[in-house]
Amino acid sequence: MKRVFAVACLMAIVAMYAQLRSNHAQAPLAHLGKNSLKEVIAAMTVEEKVKLLVGMGMDLNVPSLIDQEDKKVPEKVPGAAGRTHAIPRLGIPSLTLSDGPAGVRIAQVRNGDSNKTYYATGFPIATLLASSWDTNLVNRVAVAHGNEAREYGVDILLAPAMNLHRNPLGGRNFEYYSEDPLIAGKMAAAYVKGVQSNGVGTSIKHFAANNQEFNRMQSDTIVSERALRELYLRSFEIAVKESQPWTVMSSYNLINGTYASQSPDLLSSILRNEWGFKGLVMTDWFAGNDPVAQLKAGNDMLMPGVPAQPKAILAALADGTLSKDQLDENVERVLNIILQSPAFKEYKYSDQPDLKAHAQVAREAAIEGMVLLKNDASGLPLAASAKIALFGNTSYDLIAGGTGSGDVNKAYVISLDQGLTAAGFTVNTALRNIYSNYIADQKAKRPRPRAFFPPEPIAEMSIDNSTVSNAANDADVAVITLGRNSGEFADRKVDDDFTLSTTEQELIKTVAGSFRQKGKKAIVVLNIGGPIEIASWGQSVNSIVLAWQPGQEAGNAIADLLSGKVNPSGKLPMTFPVAYRDVPSAQNFPGRELVGKKPLLTNPFGGKPAEVVYDEGIFVGYRYYKTFGIKPAYEFGYGLSYTDFSYGDLRLSSNRFDGKVAVAVSVTNAGKVAGKEAVEIYVSAPKGRLMKPECELRGFAKTDLLQPGQTQKLSFTITPEDLASYDSDSSSWIAEGGSYTVTAGASSENIKLSARFQLPRDLVVAKAHKLLTPQRELQEIKVSSGAK
Ligand code: BGC
Repeated sequence: MKRVFAVACLMAIVAMYAQLRSNHAQAPLAHLGKNSLKEVIAAMTVEEKVKLLVGMGMDLNVPSLIDQEDKKVPEKVPGAAGRTHAIPRLGIPSLTLSDGPAGVRIAQVRNGDSNKTYYATGFPIATLLASSWDTNLVNRVAVAHGNEAREYGVDILLAPAMNLHRNPLGGRNFEYYSEDPLIAGKMAAAYVKGVQSNGVGTSIKHFAANNQEFNRMQSDTIVSERALRELYLRSFEIAVKESQPWTVMSSYNLINGTYASQSPDLLSSILRNEWGFKGLVMTDWFAGNDPVAQLKAGNDMLMPGVPAQPKAILAALADGTLSKDQLDENVERVLNIILQSPAFKEYKYSDQPDLKAHAQVAREAAIEGMVLLKNDASGLPLAASAKIALFGNTSYDLIAGGTGSGDVNKAYVISLDQGLTAAGFTVNTALRNIYSNYIADQKAKRPRPRAFFPPEPIAEMSIDNSTVSNAANDADVAVITLGRNSGEFADRKVDDDFTLSTTEQELIKTVAGSFRQKGKKAIVVLNIGGPIEIASWGQSVNSIVLAWQPGQEAGNAIADLLSGKVNPSGKLPMTFPVAYRDVPSAQNFPGRELVGKKPLLTNPFGGKPAEVVYDEGIFVGYRYYKTFGIKPAYEFGYGLSYTDFSYGDLRLSSNRFDGKVAVAVSVTNAGKVAGKEAVEIYVSAPKGRLMKPECELRGFAKTDLLQPGQTQKLSFTITPEDLASYDSDSSSWIAEGGSYTVTAGASSENIKLSARFQLPRDLVVAKAHKLLTPQRELQEIKVSSGAK
């Protein structure tokens, strides 16, 4: 009798749920409290639950990778990276998941019908956004990006990407923000909030310690607990705590011997229990080798989903290796996200986002993140009617963003040639013709790119002296653009990528030589996604503008900056080393293949077993260069302006740390044109038991647009967390007592002011757990004991 009653109740709840689905326009969440959700789960069959957790596959023409029934179901948003199964009888809709960090990555044309297009805005790459040092700006981009996702019927954006720039050759660095976890974490949090304000979800990725592409599906990251906690997990911790992303994407790699996607330590103990993450975890595409271990670890959604996964899960349920309770936990987390989704709410998306308005956002954002690296003899801004000789392929064929899932199908890219012309400059036509013909010719000859890989770059052409000399007679100034591209599946290389090719070196030498001989200026624009070598040639040109890969409005944005319409205010979120060998991880990037080791997985993109050992420990980026006294070409936090700023009035609320210290500093525009200044707050710790970098970034902010003579006061708070380092012996965050120095800098080297405060005694700031420990001794770089 009791059972009959229970079944009747369940049926009533399922009916109520279905009813809610049909008229849930009025706040479905209000009706579906926790209990009712549990009842819905109870009404699901085991097969339905498993379906919900395994995505609908990706059609790569490999039969073993997609269920043939799923393949037949028309895609709601063609070109989106993934979708989940609908369960119509329970009113559970299918979710659409789409990349990526620089714009909504979907197919621009459907069924070959080009009458109606589905272009998305190509926003600037994440590295450029971070170079703005402006979380409000990043939030604004994300609001537009999220709106576009919603208007194209997307439920979850597979962004932002936030791994660290451990090494300048990381193939996906352009998708990531910085070498510093505070910048990466704050930028990601601002992005998540912006996207999610549209009612669309995000997936912060790739969690964690996935800072390279080399054998990415089978590479074991061997890293100390301290480096993990302070750098590679810290950025995610900030983003999770400050913005509660709907989802987290676990990464391809292993961490200290366990696949990230199969690690209960990472996904349950740290992410959920220590940090309080409330959403769901999904795998990266085709990641890991054990779907059951993934579910048990707290990785709730397996993406994109392959037919072998449901089979393995059902078998594990049948033989008891996977419990029903575990399955239900995973299902509940997925359902919780579905309840919030536009699909569940039956949002009537328009397929017509305001691309014009978003292009404007993209243009404004692009300028804010460009970095003026050098400006001798006021090479910039250009005179209003300057005649420009434009050299370099990417002046005409500009790289808006990197390749792979970080790419966007955008309607256009404004070249530098177009941007300068639209801004009223005269661009030398002889050069334009030579370059246009060369690029067209080379593109026609170029081999088809390997699936998923970036196309081969077009080599710079050798340009003869007489062409250069004619251009130097005709034009007032030379602008030479150098380009670099990279993306998923491959890291960059040192020769002809980090360093300049011989032809590029010749180009700079000939052009700069010829123009400067005639008393004319030579300017270089860098259209790149990560650092290159500059020290050997930088002195031969007047100005260097780091334009990054600035999105579809590239040429307009660069022209705004070259013309002085907008004053540059970007600063480097990573170090530009003098030489590659100076990079702390130069000896152990991207690791080594483990020859003879049995593959951990077999799929078409699996690669080989490999490992990478993070022997540089916590000394990544400026933490290394500053502590070990290695001079970079351009230091972390560096960037020039067309005006000058002076810093004054650095004040601490107290010279004794009591729970926190408030910091205030005033910045004055001491120059002649309006501008913005990014202010960096670093903290140096006293000598103590724990080894410390020379200083660490603990706060940053950008001023408003300051008119000449105008002053703005900026405020920051130093918290106990900002003083703490991770002590792996006690698995806790410890701030050691002593005298701390707070500095306000225009860069990590250009420190303007400093003040000190005392922490009376050691503080245990937070207790953590002994997790993710390396299985072997690391040979980490060390500063002499007790020293900073
Ligand atoms: C990438 C992810 C991406 C996913 C879906 C993977 O190859 O690593 O960043 O979101 O594909 O396209």
